[in-house]
Amino acid sequence: MDVAKVYDKVSEAYSEFYNNDIYSIEEDRLIAQLLMSRMPTAPDGAIRIADLGCGAGWPRVIWDEISASHALHYDGCDISDGMIEQANEAYAPEMTAGHAAFRQADIRTALSNVPASSYDLVVSLHGVFSHLRHEELPPIMAEIQRILRPGGTCVLGFYSRFADCRAPEHPRVLDHECRQLGTAVDDATVTSITYTADEVRQLFAEAGMTVDTIQGFGVEGGDPDIHGKLVERQNALDARDEQGGGRAVREAQRALRNEAREIVEADAQLGRKNPERAHEIMAFARRK
Ligand SMILES: C[S@@+](CC[C@H](N)C(=O)[O-])C[C@H]1O[C@@H](n2cnc3c(N)ncnc32)[C@H](O)[C@@H]1O
Repeated sequence: MDVAKVYDKVSEAYSEFYNNDIYSIEEDRLIAQLLMSRMPTAPDGAIRIADLGCGAGWPRVIWDEISASHALHYDGCDISDGMIEQANEAYAPEMTAGHAAFRQADIRTALSNVPASSYDLVVSLHGVFSHLRHEELPPIMAEIQRILRPGGTCVLGFYSRFADCRAPEHPRVLDHECRQLGTAVDDATVTSITYTADEVRQLFAEAGMTVDTIQGFGVEGGDPDIHGKLVERQNALDARDEQGGGRAVREAQRALRNEAREIVEADAQLGRKNPERAHEIMAFARRK
């Protein structure tokens, strides 16, 4: 099944999962902080962001964290109509205010019409580039370099070669994701291409960009024994909250969030030191 159809089928569950799962929220909060520490200035006001393979739009926590201190203009594109529908729904207020826009588009062809230096920040989070063939990446990297203004920031995520597979082509990532989302999709097998940190650096270097940091995620914290148990406790507390759990439950929820945050931070430290053990790697680069 092609990648757009798989994501069409899981789009609702995907958006729901990444906006509610306690571990993912804390990981995305950390991603927001990493993005903010590299946020380019925008002389004309709002920071212009292109999100390639935006899915359902940034999980809310990323937008909320960054927009609290920066004016943003956020453009997202994704190959899946279903994902774009979710993004339109999630970001309806920002779209009405003219701060966000989404379109269905394939990043292999969509960037050529974008004028040069249109963006201060180009991002693509959570493995989008692993859904593309390796040989498709150089022309996309060249387009990113062109649409970014000089001095702009580029942040791209890739599935790592070493986490749960050692093969350059890993056929089961989406199967795994669909199971995690609890959504049955027949033949959700889409080949994902995995990368080492050195291969990612090389990809950027060939496009004339220098990677300053490779951050790994999901070294130990992504383990179902850690992540899954946090979510079980989150669900149990949420159920008690719905039944009118009161202050004690809300305090327990807060304590659980802090615990999740500490696990995510410890995982990120491991992932920074040992990206080769991470499930996913994210590269932070600057255009010269
Ligand atoms: C793992 S999801 C990540 C979504 C989002 N970036 C996030 O962080 O939640 C991968 C996304 O890449 C999109 N995608 C895959 N190939 C694409 C392509 N050629 N052009 C645009 N989007 C693509 C899929 O539709 C899906 O929404």
